[in-house]
Amino acid sequence: MRVTFTFNLRKSEDDEKQAERFSQEYVDRVVSALEELGHHVSPVEVSGSPGEVVDKLIDSRPDLIFNLAEGVGGKRRESYYPAIYELLGIPYTGGTPGLLHVGLDKRLSGKLLAVRGIKVPQGALITLEEPDIPDDMEYPVFIKPNYEGSSMGITQESVAETPEEAKKVVKKLLNEYSEGVIVEQYIEGRELTVPMLQAFSGYLLEIVEYKFEGKEHGIFDYDTKASGGKDESLNTICPPELTPEERRDVLTLADRAFNVMKIPDFARADIRLTKDGTPYLIEVNPLPGLRPVSPLITGAEAKGLSYNDVIDLIIKSAKERYGIKVD
Ligand SMILES: Nc1ncnc2c1ncn2[C@@H]1O[C@H](COP(=O)(O)OP(=O)(O)OP(=O)(O)O)[C@@H](O)[C@H]1O
Ligand SMILES: [Mg+2]
Repeated sequence: MRVTFTFNLRKSEDDEKQAERFSQEYVDRVVSALEELGHHVSPVEVSGSPGEVVDKLIDSRPDLIFNLAEGVGGKRRESYYPAIYELLGIPYTGGTPGLLHVGLDKRLSGKLLAVRGIKVPQGALITLEEPDIPDDMEYPVFIKPNYEGSSMGITQESVAETPEEAKKVVKKLLNEYSEGVIVEQYIEGRELTVPMLQAFSGYLLEIVEYKFEGKEHGIFDYDTKASGGKDESLNTICPPELTPEERRDVLTLADRAFNVMKIPDFARADIRLTKDGTPYLIEVNPLPGLRPVSPLITGAEAKGLSYNDVIDLIIKSAKERYGIKVD
């Protein structure tokens, strides 16, 4: 099959705002997986002008686009690419423009999930136009940018114990991330994530737990995530020790979230589990990372799948969705 692999390359390692973009090493890993699976691969960097991107996509004559492009800026950044593929009539892996747009808006997706009875932290969107934190919030609260990924803007200061502290953090964060920040219930508890591959028999992969040694708050802050697993304070546990009931409840929550959002091919649900065994959905990721050290790959390996198997299964469900017959 002719597969065009789309991505955005990271230009600076120091710029936190580029954290979602790809290193050359990551690009090479995906390209070699696609080649080892027997595909004719065209890697296409899609950060350039829309006209150039469209030309490159058409020139590569794809049967399928393997889309991992996260975009370069703005609160709808990753949703533009599938819109281009749809306009060109080219099949692609992963979520639609609408899904990726909603996925990038934590407040909106949280509301959609809550309406369907899924337990999410209660909170409010704070913007420059409406900068006041509601009076009825219970403390501590958690404060994070509404439209970012890769833990951008998340530090140990994201947990605020008092309204005064919260005000300060919101002000600082809105300065950096002016599109909006969320102030929500802080879910004290264990950090879990559930990856999913639609074409995998059983569909949900193994739960992955992260533990953060010696940190004031057990949260996945930017510094820890950006270390790519090299931070010694980070412990990855897969499968985690859970009671049968906890395991069932965590998997059920993830499954329901994926179904409500109708996410195709692959996804990940980030969950916090409180001491009393209640899981809260923190967010769903309709375009989760596939770095060799990433929760989706860790959860897949625990189910006996290799890196190439993951890439193959993502292609398999997309092919089935579109009825593509070429191998
Ligand atoms: N309400 C909350 N209570 C406790 N911790 C939270 C809360 N919201 C976020 N966190 C912590 O912050 C981390 C990052 O938050 P979140 O998953 O929403 O952001 P992200 O930047 O989109 O992450 P990703 O890299 O998965 O895209 C979570 O993994 C969790 O540790
Ligand atoms: Mg997350």
